[in-house]
Amino acid sequence: MTQTPWEIHAGWWQQEFTGGVDPEYEEQILPLAAEFLAGAQRVLDVGAGEGQVARVAAAMEPCPDVVVGVEPVASHLELARERVSGPASRSEGRSGPVYAQGLAEALPIATGAVDAVVICLMLEHVEDHVPVLAEVGRVLAPGGRFVLFLNHPLLQTPGSGWIDDHILEEQYWRVGAYLGVDVVMEEVAPGVVLPFVHRPLSAYVNTMRDHGLVIERMEEPAPPPGFLERAPEYAAQATIPRLLALLARRLP
Ligand SMILES: C[S@@+](CC[C@H](N)C(=O)[O-])C[C@H]1O[C@@H](n2cnc3c(N)ncnc32)[C@H](O)[C@@H]1O
Repeated sequence: MTQTPWEIHAGWWQQEFTGGVDPEYEEQILPLAAEFLAGAQRVLDVGAGEGQVARVAAAMEPCPDVVVGVEPVASHLELARERVSGPASRSEGRSGPVYAQGLAEALPIATGAVDAVVICLMLEHVEDHVPVLAEVGRVLAPGGRFVLFLNHPLLQTPGSGWIDDHILEEQYWRVGAYLGVDVVMEEVAPGVVLPFVHRPLSAYVNTMRDHGLVIERMEEPAPPPGFLERAPEYAAQATIPRLLALLARRLP
């Protein structure tokens, strides 16, 4: 059977972005996830990868009753299950997340069964966001929260980037084509080609609203120090966020 790009490049993702090696996760995404999910009792992480967000949820105080990660890629699930039983969770007597193989478009979760759903850097890789957000609205109990992390849809559009114009002596951030949907296979590292779907922010927000998910909080953090240390060329662009984090509430 043909492997999906996420299956082919699972090892690359695990090596480059998990296990504490990526400053944007360590300094920004995982702390924000802990803050947004604090107090939730039944947490679902959709497109969980090797489980780094799910593990943060499972380590929260007070300890959630259950954290479930849903992920289609078998090798991510294998590593996620290995990483559950790390020394920290064993010594604290906590149970880590549990995992199920599945797709965001058809979650193997009962209606209204969870009080928090998190999707981290997954929805912008899915061709149709509508069935995914419909599933989030379905599985969330009334009043439950939805935490969504995206590559910033306004500022990280295809063709966006820093322009250093030596003739006009201007430096600025160019925003590429914003309205409309653009599906590209993007080479994110040498030989690593993954699907990336640009859609305007209104497409996310209005579809969320259609499925009872109303935004309560929005964060557009500046790139964190560890990222700027690694990519000093980004320092001049430090007022341009790479990440958008939304906290929404499921209407009753
Ligand atoms: C960029 S990784 C993020 C992984 C994880 N959320 C994290 O932040 O570490 C995107 C993940 O989404 C998963 N994915 C892609 N399409 C999916 C779909 N239709 N349903 C569920 N997960 C999907 C991929 O297998 C991959 O693990």
